[in-house]
Amino acid sequence: MTTLNISRGPEFSRIAGLGVARGENAVPNEDIIEPINSSDEWIRKMTGIATRVRANADTSVIDLAESASRDALAAAGIDGGDVDAVILSTITYPHMTPGGAPVLADRLGSTGAAFDISAACAGYCYGIGQADALVRSGSARNVLVVGAEKMSDFVDPADRTISYLLGDAAGAVVISASDEPRIGPTVWGSDGSGAQLIRQTSSWLEVRDGEAEAFPTLYQEGPSVFKWASFKMAPVALQAIEAAGVTPDDITAFIPHQANIRIIDQMVKQIGLPKHVAVGRDIVDSGNTSAASIPLATERLIRDGKAASGDLALQIGFGAGLVYAAQVVVLP
Ligand SMILES: CC(C)(COP(=O)(O)OP(=O)(O)OC[C@H]1O[C@@H](n2cnc3c(N)ncnc32)[C@H](O)[C@@H]1OP(=O)(O)O)[C@@H](O)C(=O)NCCC(=O)NCCS
Repeated sequence: MTTLNISRGPEFSRIAGLGVARGENAVPNEDIIEPINSSDEWIRKMTGIATRVRANADTSVIDLAESASRDALAAAGIDGGDVDAVILSTITYPHMTPGGAPVLADRLGSTGAAFDISAACAGYCYGIGQADALVRSGSARNVLVVGAEKMSDFVDPADRTISYLLGDAAGAVVISASDEPRIGPTVWGSDGSGAQLIRQTSSWLEVRDGEAEAFPTLYQEGPSVFKWASFKMAPVALQAIEAAGVTPDDITAFIPHQANIRIIDQMVKQIGLPKHVAVGRDIVDSGNTSAASIPLATERLIRDGKAASGDLALQIGFGAGLVYAAQVVVLP
């Protein structure tokens, strides 16, 4: 048998730089409650959200992604030309094809591989898992992972199941080689039996055939999603901690997907995180920005002085699919 004559890639990878871009407008609860017959009090109590960030009409999801990416590249000290792969995690790029990643790569001056991931609110952690593997296999030196969403393009302001939760933003990181392990193994999975729980209201074929009542937007069965996230995700987080060879006591920052403050608090309790752990609660001001929410919450913890470079962060994304992914990382 003839085998290949290849060298291995670097043993480890790391997050080399982080950048974020929030939608230009902080939209308070008062501005969105009327069509859903809700109240500021209800939204704060049930979700923690006080404002959600929303982008201007002429700001595209790629504009947000580009802005976050430029900051991530600058933080990593590299140019677009140094990026061998661009992974764009999004569910709101408004074209089925081509993907948004090649467009983003072109804007940044990269001719590297470029592809989109559709893993909703788990998209950022899926991207980190992919980037880590690409770097360690020797397929790419620097991978840009971007979670970017303009959720407001796909919300029905009168839908009281999800519309009021969602915001527009992007978060980007550069993943590069490392001498030491700085990204733990990704623990990930799916439960497609829950595919109907968070979904587009109609398929494109139903739109074509005149069977859709309106332009497709996002819808969810909130209570079922709440139960799944609150009770099924903590064991996944614990597996990620174990896979990284550390214990909950070693974690200094917990940065879960920003879906609901009550889910976040429930997870902290179930994982058994010690009191000193800084917890990402950016949802209060930014809302749920899907694939962007974890890097956004990371940036916020660092900006507020609650987490710092070198800290050990547990991050976990979960959402439509249903899909989930978690890993322990060293903050850049
Ligand atoms: C969306 C969510 C906040 C709703 O809270 P909930 O307690 O499950 O709400 P329910 O649908 O059971 O409704 C409870 C009550 O609130 C009311 N209600 C529901 N949505 C409301 C809204 N937007 N505004 C005001 N009242 C609302 C219901 O009518 C019901 O009233 P009733 O008791 O008088 O019948 C919650 O289910 C949730 O956060 N789910 C997870 C969402 C999520 O994280 N999604 C993203 C996944 S990545």
